Amino acid sequence: MTTYQDVLKKASKIIDNFDAELILSHVTGKSRAKIFSAMKSSLLEIDEFRFWQFAQKRSKGFPLAYITGIKEFWKGEFKVNKNVLIPRPETEALIEELLKEDLEEKKLIELGTGSGCIAISIANEINNLSIYATDFSIEAILIARENAEINKSKNIIFINHDWREEWLFPSVDFIISNPPYVDKKDIKKNADGIWYEPEIALFSENSGFADIEIIIKKSYQFLNKKGKLFLEHSPDQYNLIKKIANETNFKSVNYKEDLNKDIRFSILEK
Ligand SMILES: C[S@@+](CC[C@H](N)C(=O)[O-])C[C@H]1O[C@@H](n2cnc3c(N)ncnc32)[C@H](O)[C@@H]1O
Repeated sequence: MTTYQDVLKKASKIIDNFDAELILSHVTGKSRAKIFSAMKSSLLEIDEFRFWQFAQKRSKGFPLAYITGIKEFWKGEFKVNKNVLIPRPETEALIEELLKEDLEEKKLIELGTGSGCIAISIANEINNLSIYATDFSIEAILIARENAEINKSKNIIFINHDWREEWLFPSVDFIISNPPYVDKKDIKKNADGIWYEPEIALFSENSGFADIEIIIKKSYQFLNKKGKLFLEHSPDQYNLIKKIANETNFKSVNYKEDLNKDIRFSILEK
C-alpha cells in the first residue's frame, strides 16, 4: 500500500514539493487541503501510475500547467493545453495598464488571444466594452471560447484571423497584443519548459520583430483618432518599436516596466 505521504516524499527527490502536491491533487481529484488532512490515505494503483508518469514528465521540464490543464491568471482560471501559450504573470501588468483608460462603451481588438486570458480578464472588468479577440490558430480559438464560458465572460467575439492577411475589422479605440516576439536563436536548448509551448505563440522572424512590425503598421489604420495600441515585447525591442511607430505616424510612444524593472510594454497613441 502506498500512501499520499509516501509518494510525496519519494517525488521530492525529482521535483519541487509544491509541484508534487499539485500533481497528486490533479490525479486524485482532491484538493491540497484534503490531501494534507489525510496523508496516510492509500493511493489507488491507477492514480499512483499516473502520478509517476506526470512527475517524470515534470522532472524533464514539462510545464505543470499542461499537466493540470489549468493556469490562474488575473482573477480567473484558464484551461490550457499544448495549443496555447501558458499565461504569464507579467502579462497581467498589460491589463492593469489598459484598465487605467476610459473603456466604457468603447471597442477593442485583441490580436493573438491564445487561451483568451487577456480578452476575458478585460471583459470581466468592463461590461460594456465590445471586444474582438483574434488568433490564426483555430485550436487556440476553441480553447479561448471554452475559457470565456468557464469565466462567464460576455461581449467577446472570437475571430479566426491571421494578422498578415487583410484586416476586415471595424475601427476601434484600443488594440492590445502579446504577440510572438522571441528570437529563436536567443533561447537555450535547456530553457525551462519553453520548448513544450507552441512555437507559433513564441517565436518571430527578423530577430523576434517581424510580427510586432506588422501589428504596429496595420493597427494604425484601424485605430480611431487618439486610439491606443498596447503591446507586450522584449526589453531590447523598445527602440525599434519607437522608430517604426514614428515612421507610421503614431503621435506618442510610452513604455512600461515589468516587476523586474525591464521595459516590457509599449503604449502607442495615434
Ligand atoms: C504570445 S501568444 C499570446 C497568447 C495570449 N494572448 C497570452 O497573452 O497568453 C501569441 C498568440 O498569437 C497567435 N499568433 C501568432 N501569429 C499570428 C498571426 N500571424 N495571426 C494571428 N495570430 C497569431 C498565436 O497563435 C498565439 O496564440
